[in-house]
Amino acid sequence: MSDDLFNLARRAMAKCHAPYSNFPVGAAIRTHDGRLYSGCNIEVVSFPEGWCAETTAIGHMVMDGGGRIAEVAVVASKMRACTPCGGCRQRLAEFGTPETLVHLCDASDGVIETVTLGDLLPKAFPKDAVS
Ligand code: THU
Repeated sequence: MSDDLFNLARRAMAKCHAPYSNFPVGAAIRTHDGRLYSGCNIEVVSFPEGWCAETTAIGHMVMDGGGRIAEVAVVASKMRACTPCGGCRQRLAEFGTPETLVHLCDASDGVIETVTLGDLLPKAFPKDAVS
């Protein structure tokens, strides 16, 4: 992964609204056609109403016309290799493939580990389940 995706995720993390957990997260997406999108986590005083950094980034991609996710970087200032939560794995699967690369990053050291979405979400609820 080139540094641009990591740096984009880190810059997004700096914009987080996480006053309740104090757990800033940033995510950045690269689409198969080379577009980049990023997002931060956004919390709400009614706690379940907040959402994750990956979700913000996906929203930006969809609002820009959609796309297929080739790779995603996730970074959290208080965790060395932040993994996407369960719900975000399914959201990433909606726009990615089992081969989509997921870079788990450290805010200072960059990519710690790269896994695939298939590793993180085996037996995902399939897109053709509902029609
Ligand atoms: N969070 C994310 O933004 N992405 C994840 O994949 C894991 C969790 C956020 C949600 C909440 O704002 C904070 O981290 C603590 O759970």
